[in-house]
Amino acid sequence: TGMFTYDPGFTSTASCESTLTYIDGDEGVLLHRGYPIGQLAEQSSFMEVAYLLLNHELPSAAELDKFTYTISRHTMLHEQLAQFYRGFRRDAHPMAIMCGVVGALSAFYHDSTDIADPHQRMIASHRLIAKMPTIAAMAYKYSVGQPFLYPDNSLSYTGNFLRMTFGVPAEPYEVNPVVERALDRIFILHADHEQNASTSTVRLAGSSGANPFACIAAGIACLWGPAHGGANEAALNMLREIGTPDRIPEYIARAKDKNDPFRLMGFGHRVYKNYDPRATVMQKTVREVFDSLGVSDPVFETALQLEEIALKDEYFAEKKLFPNVDFYSGVILSAIGFPTTMFTALFALARTVGWVAQWNEMISDPEQKIGRPRQLYTGPTQRDYVPVGER
Ligand code: CMC
Repeated sequence: TGMFTYDPGFTSTASCESTLTYIDGDEGVLLHRGYPIGQLAEQSSFMEVAYLLLNHELPSAAELDKFTYTISRHTMLHEQLAQFYRGFRRDAHPMAIMCGVVGALSAFYHDSTDIADPHQRMIASHRLIAKMPTIAAMAYKYSVGQPFLYPDNSLSYTGNFLRMTFGVPAEPYEVNPVVERALDRIFILHADHEQNASTSTVRLAGSSGANPFACIAAGIACLWGPAHGGANEAALNMLREIGTPDRIPEYIARAKDKNDPFRLMGFGHRVYKNYDPRATVMQKTVREVFDSLGVSDPVFETALQLEEIALKDEYFAEKKLFPNVDFYSGVILSAIGFPTTMFTALFALARTVGWVAQWNEMISDPEQKIGRPRQLYTGPTQRDYVPVGER
């Protein structure tokens, strides 16, 4: 009944109109509201990019100050939510905790669930952006058995997150400006990426009128998978497993083998058939962080050589597989001190900006209706029920 376009994986379906992000996958171009990602990553801040995505234009100095202040007013979590953490096992994956805690926010901020009111939608968006660092840092603190730290609003968005993660009450914590800048840049690089799987999930969840906290929790669940945001964790684990450059050919051979499910993590992309512009900035940032901190990690050399060998290989050239955003991010995050299990939580923290901006855009769209794909039914035709004793 009816003719539908069969498009598994939505490789050729535009699900919405959007003014947020433009990608030219063949040329390796990524623009947020027209601004190239390279310029934003090098010259702006995560708060500025958040403002740009939520409010269409870059802020004036006064607007940025006001926005940053507003976000800082929402960094605290309801005290009751700290109890919620204690219900998890200590070894729970931070993404499991994030899904649960973010979903639970809807039970605490009832006013923000009035999605018909643009003002309440903006408050909900600010709350989500502001609380994600607190939620992620608490997931980490819980896993290592250290006390939760309250936010310090005298610090920057990213500086406060670093302190809540790595600080302890017994000692003053000094934010390292190099680390703060690098992490802020990583957040910018993850802020939005048009209709990727998790963003589409947020939009689909939101299309039914579900509250924003529930929608972002759905996005977090989708992001967790290794084909999506989970790839940053998987990529670093893979690089450490490879260990030394002499073992690279073995892994390249496995990635090419049709009978082996193994893939090079941090490689390939649905849209980019060229170098991911975010990976370019990421690789440069690894060098800057290592130089300024005077540290190094053999895993970086393995990554560089793996990239070089893969890019020269016929298989990767023919399939147009290049490093993506997840390939180098783990090298920096690991140098900063994050365990691999936190990598995807950091992705979720940053992508929350894109999720809420996309969600707002969808709700404000007069054409918006519930997302409801159809299917091609391939099951049995109608038949009669047979009682269990006669089967
Ligand atoms: N290693 C080896 N072969 C690969 C890889 C890879 N990383 N990626 C794709 N291929 C092959 C794949 O086997 C297929 O070959 P064939 O046409 O012979 O069957 C071909 O390339 C096309 O792959 P596909 O799976 O049909 O492409 P897709 O657009 O559905 O998948 C992807 C895109 C990102 C899921 C995939 O490239 C992948 O699994 N990469 C590894 C995981 C990863 O790094 N994900 C992060 C994506 S970027 C940031 C984010 O979203 O979080």
